[in-house]
Amino acid sequence: MSDKKPWAGRFSEPTDAFVEAFTASVAFDQRLAPQDIRGSIAHASMLARQGILSETERDAIVQGLEQILARVDAGGFEWSVALEDVHMNIEAALTQMIGDAGKKLHTGRSRNDQVATDIRLWLRDEIANLRAELYRLREALLDLAEQEAETVMPGFTHLQTAQPVTFGHHLMAWFEMLERDDGRLADCARRANRCPLGAAALAGTTFPIDRDFTAELLGFDGPCRNSLDAVSDRDFAIEFAAAASLLMMHLSRMSEELIIWSSAQFGFITLSDSFCTGSSIMPQKKNPDVPELIRGKSGRVFGHLMGLLTLMKSQPLAYNKDNQEDKEPLFDIADNLRGSLKVFADMVPAISPNRDRMRQAALQGFATATDLADYLVRKGLPFRDAHEVVGKSVAYCVEKQCDLADLTLEELQRFSDLIEQDVFDYLTLEGSVAARDHIGGTAPRQVRQAIAQARKRLAAEQ
Ligand code: ARG
Repeated sequence: MSDKKPWAGRFSEPTDAFVEAFTASVAFDQRLAPQDIRGSIAHASMLARQGILSETERDAIVQGLEQILARVDAGGFEWSVALEDVHMNIEAALTQMIGDAGKKLHTGRSRNDQVATDIRLWLRDEIANLRAELYRLREALLDLAEQEAETVMPGFTHLQTAQPVTFGHHLMAWFEMLERDDGRLADCARRANRCPLGAAALAGTTFPIDRDFTAELLGFDGPCRNSLDAVSDRDFAIEFAAAASLLMMHLSRMSEELIIWSSAQFGFITLSDSFCTGSSIMPQKKNPDVPELIRGKSGRVFGHLMGLLTLMKSQPLAYNKDNQEDKEPLFDIADNLRGSLKVFADMVPAISPNRDRMRQAALQGFATATDLADYLVRKGLPFRDAHEVVGKSVAYCVEKQCDLADLTLEELQRFSDLIEQDVFDYLTLEGSVAARDHIGGTAPRQVRQAIAQARKRLAAEQ
């Protein structure tokens, strides 16, 4: 294939060898070859429909591009750095294959609207892949939450025992976080789904093109409305990076909890061996590497968000070469996010909860102290006074090294004569969670209802 640069007409000296390598993007943008070819086929079809290309020329272009795609897929396409990027590599290969018709493909088009189209097509597909993995993860969480709807564990604030919650309720909190993430990804894909083709370099083209037709062929919701905006903005990439960052932030928090829970000191869960690794020196070790790595990967995704924002912040309209820097972060975000979602979805069914350990932990730290205060309020004591009474009872238990439920009725009555035998119904873990029986509460009945509603929403997404 000839390495003659398509833009070399006005140049009399060759490109400096280092500059050539420095400015080339083919090493990473060759990944966009399928999208580039899809876009070119749509563009050629539109040109022929408008009488700008003949049907014979269009057919030659389409067949040639299909052959090139097959060669790329088979790994037999030779990428040339001298031809700078995926667009010029493919165009040069096409021209070499079919001759003059290949040279006509770029009529009414620029690499500026071409690359913007390629990325939007790529992002649309990638978001669909990510959402499919996210869907699997959300389903896995629902299954585990259903199984653990009655399991009692300590709920924490400040990582100090707060009140008993059900493990199913905790898992459903994760589910809610992920449902919002899915909504953000869907929203981003919807806004990005506009076709830049026809914007050409920046101002549009003098040919009688039909932008609606090209957009329709590519499955876009319509053309981008302004040509300058179409070739220059990468806000959709930033929006994706932001949605991905929030999702990674959530995965990182979930990972952190799995790491804490699987420690010997907590022992709330056991992660199956297939998701852990050992130590080369300490024979006893079984490390939760998978959640740790996901927690770590959140950092690079946040970094890319900042990188993309900074990439765009000072660019004048319209296209600038700076924009070439959008691809590597985007690819890196998608690859790491996809991997993290996949492994998390696979890992959730490999979590075995240690229900006794969770229960024992919930019995420590006076998790039902608020229940005792609420009990006194129901007997007529103002909440602030009830708080004080229970605070004193807890101090007594700390001294005695026992739990509130271990006190005798007589001991409890020393703190308030409103306390009667029925108090013990409220001091149990099961009584405590069952009593929080309202929308969004931790009662097993509510958790089951939340799961049923979530399953309906998931089914409606399909
Ligand atoms: N490789 C370029 C990019 O990724 C393609 C567009 C180049 N356009 C140009 N006028 N130099 O942005």
